[in-house]
Amino acid sequence: MGIEKTFSIIKPNAVKKGVIGDIVKQFEDSGLRIAAMKLTSISKDKCELFYAEHKERPFFGELVSFMTSGPVVMMCLAGEGAILKNREIMGATDPKKANPGTLRAKHGDSVGENAVHGSDSPESAARELAIFFDKHEMINL
Ligand code: RTP
Ligand code: MG
Repeated sequence: MGIEKTFSIIKPNAVKKGVIGDIVKQFEDSGLRIAAMKLTSISKDKCELFYAEHKERPFFGELVSFMTSGPVVMMCLAGEGAILKNREIMGATDPKKANPGTLRAKHGDSVGENAVHGSDSPESAARELAIFFDKHEMINL
């Protein structure tokens, strides 16, 4: 699989609950390394670009409004098989269906407010990282 980089967001509901540290610890304990990290807000324009694949879905407006409702933590996670590993640590999209111990089972409130985002493929990871990070903001691991 090789060393990969993936894009992660700690969503506004999880930041509000004060579980940034717990989430970061779970990533680091799994062997993933943080190659970039910032606490910030997402603008409506960037959010719509980021979620462009969901533009026609009925929940699009709600999704953008939630993701721009408060601060988020954005990260570039790096490591062996980082993309799949991150998705496994996150758990299923619906927190009620997520395996026990996963981030969404622990910290998700609903399908919409599911605590974390993670890229789902190498193409998505490259696209998403380029939207939110400049190359010089990421360290080489
Ligand atoms: P993500 O992109 O956030 O990592 O989540 P995912 O791949 O597991 O799920 P995806 O299908 O890409 O959906 C993106 C986000 O849209 C929200 N969603 N709401 N109300 C709904 O039925 C619904 N379905 C999806 C979720 O916040 C999901 O994470
Ligand atoms: Mg997705």
